Amino acid sequence: MKWFGTLLFLFGLVAVYPAWGGDAAAGKAAYGVCLACHGANGEGNAAVNAPALAGQPAWYTARQLNNYKQGIRGTNPKDTYGTQMRPMSMTLADDTAIANVSAYIASLSPPKNKATLDGDAGKGKALYGTCVACHGAKGEGNEALNAPPLSMLQDWYLVRQLANFKAGIRGADPKDAYGAQMRPMAMILADEQAIKDVSAHIVTLGQ
Ligand code: HEC
Ligand code: HEC
Repeated sequence: MKWFGTLLFLFGLVAVYPAWGGDAAAGKAAYGVCLACHGANGEGNAAVNAPALAGQPAWYTARQLNNYKQGIRGTNPKDTYGTQMRPMSMTLADDTAIANVSAYIASLSPPKNKATLDGDAGKGKALYGTCVACHGAKGEGNEALNAPPLSMLQDWYLVRQLANFKAGIRGADPKDAYGAQMRPMAMILADEQAIKDVSAHIVTLGQ
């Protein structure tokens, strides 16, 4: 019966996985500051330009919160929305607070988004071929390659980030090791229409 105990232990690990490295219950209290913009369920809010966070893995959320805090993201004067987010990251006192709120966000169910822009998902599917290697065929992300899931993000947020990467508003800071990997990928997208098309396809992945 030893194997049975091992099995139970493994199931236990799977059950607590979203909270890995952080305390989701403590994170829920810290999330009180965030919900005004990102929504009570982390579903995002287009009216205040705040993206969906629900279901993003803790390793990615924690990295972004650290980047904001350290000024690696959200300090470019052209980064209108990143500069709004940066002071919010400062409300998280230390790495533990970041780990806790990230664990809470990971425990929320990702929203199902609808296309809101005039992107051509069919053309976007072909463009997404370049992205699959890192972000996965279903936009599920790949921790080993440091690439976050995309399938739970809204099209308007995807468009903004791709434009920001392309223009060097995001990913150009010398300390932004992962943004620097993403930047050349955004450069492949020829123009604004291509950015809208690939985003239209990504939105279908989460439905
Ligand atoms: C005043 C509104 C506001 C509040 C409050 C706020 N945020 Fe944000 N947040 C934003 C905006 C706007 C963006 C988008 C920035 C951009 O487009 O580059 C953002 C982006 C983010 C991102 C990056 C998401 C990604 O996919 O890369 C994370 C993570 C995040 N916020 C977490 C939080 C957390 C955690 C809190 C609470 C401690 C919080 N935010 C509070 C407005 C807010
Ligand atoms: C070589 C691997 C790689 C490829 C290929 C790649 N990406 Fe990325 N992407 C990344 C990494 C790494 C990040 C995380 C950057 C960070 O941590 O700030 C990222 C981040 C992003 C983000 C930001 C997500 C967020 O929540 O803010 C978007 C959007 C994105 N990629 C879209 C794409 C699209 C569209 C393509 C194809 C045209 C693509 N990526 C191709 C590695 C890649």
